[in-house]
Amino acid sequence: MIDLRSDTVTRPTAAMREAIAKADVGDDVYGEDPTVRRLEERVAALVGTEAALFVPTGTMANQIALRVQTRPGDEVIIGVGAHCWRHESGALAALAGLQTQVIGSDGTFTADDVRAAFKEAHPYQAATRVVAVENTHNMAGGTCWDRARLAAVVAAAHDLGMHAHLDGARIWNAAFAAGASERELAAGFDSVSVCFSKGLGAPAGSAVCGSRALIAEAHRARKMYGGGMRQAGMLAAGALYAVEHHRARLGDDHANARAFADVLAGTPGARVKQPQTNIVMIDLDRAIEPVMAAAKARGVLLGPGGARRIRAVTHLDVDRDACVKAARILAEVAAAA
Ligand SMILES: Cc1ncc(COP(=O)(O)O)c(C=O)c1O
Repeated sequence: MIDLRSDTVTRPTAAMREAIAKADVGDDVYGEDPTVRRLEERVAALVGTEAALFVPTGTMANQIALRVQTRPGDEVIIGVGAHCWRHESGALAALAGLQTQVIGSDGTFTADDVRAAFKEAHPYQAATRVVAVENTHNMAGGTCWDRARLAAVVAAAHDLGMHAHLDGARIWNAAFAAGASERELAAGFDSVSVCFSKGLGAPAGSAVCGSRALIAEAHRARKMYGGGMRQAGMLAAGALYAVEHHRARLGDDHANARAFADVLAGTPGARVKQPQTNIVMIDLDRAIEPVMAAAKARGVLLGPGGARRIRAVTHLDVDRDACVKAARILAEVAAAA
């Protein structure tokens, strides 16, 4: 099977497994796991924050980050289709007691949109406390924020007394595509979540990054959410290996995504935009299920991106030949449908 459903389907490489097997570990709930400490320090340095906290998932990273910067009844401003709004099982409302205001159109929005959405302090109104941004934006098709627009949004949030959160699950891809450092893309944000289990190919793990004070709060919230792990160095070692060895190769995934899109260009009944990173969205004139089933029957696994939209994600475990082969199969079954 050529599995393009997500960049989360990768399996650890032999070298990563070796790093995991050799990991020096301790009880991380007691703060005694040296590999977790090393990972947290490395990630904080990369992202440019005072501190970082290792957590099991990207969902927990987002939820903790937003919880510790708000109180129940507060409001978070979010872009259309944001993961923390659409794909985290309603946790912002259920666990943090937050309401959300969704703005913009393509996952991004402007500083003016933020100013228009902000609610002045008033006893009858929720306090708008945080603006949450996703870069790259998953459901918009792995798209990168324009950097000037991003900086203006962060500045507008701060001018209004709000905090800014970056869901940087794929900040590595965004940085590679922009030819910038993660630190540059995270500049100004009060909290940043990053994932090691997506394009970087680690089996699990994410981090919340921020000031020492924010991370101290996040530490408590992590325990409350059940994310305090014991010999977590076993996972942190995979994440550390991924950070050191798999960032530089993300360009392969981006080039493979472009090759995938090129093969599909001109397919009757299908439209594909040139991808910016490792996610390709294919818009069909019809329902996607029969097309996805026909592709699966021929050995290609794809995911849904909407009622008439298929999502294909390139990653470490699929090479150029496999991507081109998968695109040819998809083009054939889409044209035949
Ligand atoms: C943009 C984004 N944020 C957060 C997450 C959540 O990560 P996890 O699946 O580790 O909870 C994902 C997962 O795909 C994602 O795409």
